[in-house]
Amino acid sequence: MTYVNIIVTTAAKVATVTINRPDKLNALNRATIEELRLAFAAIKSDANIRAAILTGSGAKSFVAGADITEFAGVEPAAARDFSLAGQRTFREIELLGKPVIAAVNGFCFGGGMELAMVCTLRIAADTAKFGQPEVNLGILPGFGGTQRLPRLVGRSAALELCLTGKPISAERAHQLGIVSGVVPAADLIGEVEKLCGQLALSAPLAMRGIMDAIIYGEDMPLDQGLDYESQTFGLLSSTADMREGTSAFLEKRKPEFLGR
Ligand code: COA
Repeated sequence: MTYVNIIVTTAAKVATVTINRPDKLNALNRATIEELRLAFAAIKSDANIRAAILTGSGAKSFVAGADITEFAGVEPAAARDFSLAGQRTFREIELLGKPVIAAVNGFCFGGGMELAMVCTLRIAADTAKFGQPEVNLGILPGFGGTQRLPRLVGRSAALELCLTGKPISAERAHQLGIVSGVVPAADLIGEVEKLCGQLALSAPLAMRGIMDAIIYGEDMPLDQGLDYESQTFGLLSSTADMREGTSAFLEKRKPEFLGR
């Protein structure tokens, strides 16, 4: 598959997807959103890929938001379609069933922050900036931000970020739990590759079960979530990976998980 707005590479069971519009600070236009959808669908169906990295090209920006030129002045129905297209692609990334780690290398604004939030985890360069500046354009976050941000940081911080539109530092994003780590910019990709390398050796079906239980469970009543958890526990107990993991522990060796 040839892409125009993204670059996809694969090494050692880890795919790296780089949004590649540095002259536009990697702003998400329709074409980029569609390419992301196709790239992540391919990653999902490739059993040789166990984890993915999502980042932006250049030193300045992860993603500076949805491409403003594509929705400025459009009719409400077309604006809604743009929002829905982003929401759909982002949801597919969120429910990929494989860990996707955002390497946030710079501006992470608007749709960029919404994209980072559907990733499984986020690691930021110390130079990164986060924000939901849509209010400054007279709109609201339209790719899921109003729903995911409060789930991630609580209502107060979500309202503060969305109402003021002000950027925050990587350090504050870490304090709020938006990112799970902040590293020197020069170390970012190396650190994220190290993490993905570990995840690529982990049990794929167990990781999928964990992600599904946590993501779907967030919107379930407790008893339903507990039931879902115990059913997934039962299902995973029938896998070859479960037998491999427990045997390897008892035999004091490293497990080799095959995703079966
Ligand atoms: N959509 C479309 N183009 C964008 C963009 C976006 N979200 N963000 C940046 N760009 C473009 C700029 O228009 C500029 O293009 P040009 O060189 O053809 O004029 C280029 O990227 C570089 O941006 P510039 O503003 O010159 O860089 P900067 O370092 O001075 O400022 C930002 C960086 C991120 C503060 C600023 O670009 C910005 O505020 N972007 C919009 C952020 C936003 O509101 N995002 C939410 C959108 S819903």
